[in-house]
Amino acid sequence: MNINLHIKEQMVKFKFKNGFLKILAIYFGACFSAYSQDNKTVLTINKDEEAPIISKHIYGHFAEHLGRCIYDGIYVGEDSKVPNTNGVRNDIIDALKELKIPNLRWPGGCFADTYHWKDGIGPKEDRPSMVNRWWGGVTEDNSFGTHDFLNLCEVLGTEPYLAANVGSSTVQEFTEYLEYVGHKGGSPMAELRKQNGREKPWNVTFWGVGNEMWGCGGNMTPEYYANLYRQYATFMTDWTNSDNMFRIASGANVADYHWTEVLMRDIPKNLIEGVALHSYSFVTWEKKGSSTKFDEAQYFSTMQTALKMEELVTKHSAIMDKYDPKNKIALIVDEWGGWYDVEEGTNPGFLYQQNTMRDAMIAGTTLNIFNNHSARVKMANLAQTVNVLQAVILTEGEKMLLTPTYHIMKMYTAHHDAKLLPLKLESPSYTFNNESLPAISASASMDKNGLVHVSLVNIDSKKENKIEIDITKLGVKNFTGTILTAPKLQDHNTFDAPNKIKPAVFKTFENKKGNLTITIPPFSVVMLEGK
Ligand code: AHR
Repeated sequence: MNINLHIKEQMVKFKFKNGFLKILAIYFGACFSAYSQDNKTVLTINKDEEAPIISKHIYGHFAEHLGRCIYDGIYVGEDSKVPNTNGVRNDIIDALKELKIPNLRWPGGCFADTYHWKDGIGPKEDRPSMVNRWWGGVTEDNSFGTHDFLNLCEVLGTEPYLAANVGSSTVQEFTEYLEYVGHKGGSPMAELRKQNGREKPWNVTFWGVGNEMWGCGGNMTPEYYANLYRQYATFMTDWTNSDNMFRIASGANVADYHWTEVLMRDIPKNLIEGVALHSYSFVTWEKKGSSTKFDEAQYFSTMQTALKMEELVTKHSAIMDKYDPKNKIALIVDEWGGWYDVEEGTNPGFLYQQNTMRDAMIAGTTLNIFNNHSARVKMANLAQTVNVLQAVILTEGEKMLLTPTYHIMKMYTAHHDAKLLPLKLESPSYTFNNESLPAISASASMDKNGLVHVSLVNIDSKKENKIEIDITKLGVKNFTGTILTAPKLQDHNTFDAPNKIKPAVFKTFENKKGNLTITIPPFSVVMLEGK
């Protein structure tokens, strides 16, 4: 997590770029004035046969053995008074099913490179304990292990994404894991799995080869890791001969383009299907501030780091294009989201934070960026599912609440596996203290049934914006809308008022002969559906 330097570098570059943009804005003042006068944005949406499908895996989640994500959040044990199935909370199962989560990454994060999978199989009372070195130094009793996780994925109808221990393990431990999970029978590990109650192998496609190898995974250089990756990947098989395995190399920290360059250069193409990238949003890494008590300056800085994702995926993709012009290797943003100070009185190592409309802004804009880059970005994982960082669900004892981020994720299910509709957008600016960001973010898709979905975000903290959408080329006539907004940016759901923020019907739009004009309130997300 040594990302301070990278962030400073990003900020310097942003300020420079921003200064340059301001000069451009003065120079082209006349052109921009049309937008500032009537505050209207023009959005053109096209159909393009060549456009990619937005992989549903962009909407993936991440559950680490960190704080109260697994224990308490997902798993309470069979004897808990919280209603559960095989120890997993029923309310969490229902909420995650509603979200149609396409994949779930486990067991870490940094935890993955300390995890020895054999500690988490067999009778629970016989499992050894360990200390969670990265997250709060708490005792991990291994009561939630591989069977619990993979069975949960089956219940949820989601694809598991297992992160293997490379930092403190061996190739042998990893290959035995693959055999345990994927071999159908007649091998030592498959027989052990059967003794532990699981006859059939599980179907695991996504495998991460370590996590943050530049940091908590072992502080490696990219050259060293690329070689190690080659060694691990050589021995990886899912034992089905289906060639289905998707191997993901631990990727760059934010703007570490050298990392991506070296992996793409040094790893043979037949050994890799995906390269990861991690990037979080915050005020500054050193002073993250409260999740709920933030001012506009803090909001603006957070959105600067969130919108940086556009530049990050563009530049990492450009490097990948150079080494992989046929676009066979995917960019996997397997950790993203907002990161603030922990809630008062909670364990600093547990990363428990509330979730406000600011987080809805991060989610809406980031998912739009991923959609628009779906030719290369094939998968992403929001950090993290329950009770950690930008969680979609928070729990307290038997209580559970859905955060604004949950609602954005649910609204955006409309884009899962739909065909991207490329768009052109000239956004008005959201200006604060002489710095500017694009106020409006958008993405659009058409699903298998011909339904068009347009997701729009207005991050401006004060101004509503008018958006005129040219829909003449889409062949749709009628639109309906859903909105997520709130009276204040800092608003959030609490255990006493869990439905304070929830999606509502959106009606402030007009459809005049192929021109749809909508008025989007400050800090709100709108999903339009057209047929
Ligand atoms: O998501 C929390 C932590 O952030 C993960 O364990 C690690 O990979 C990253 O630094």
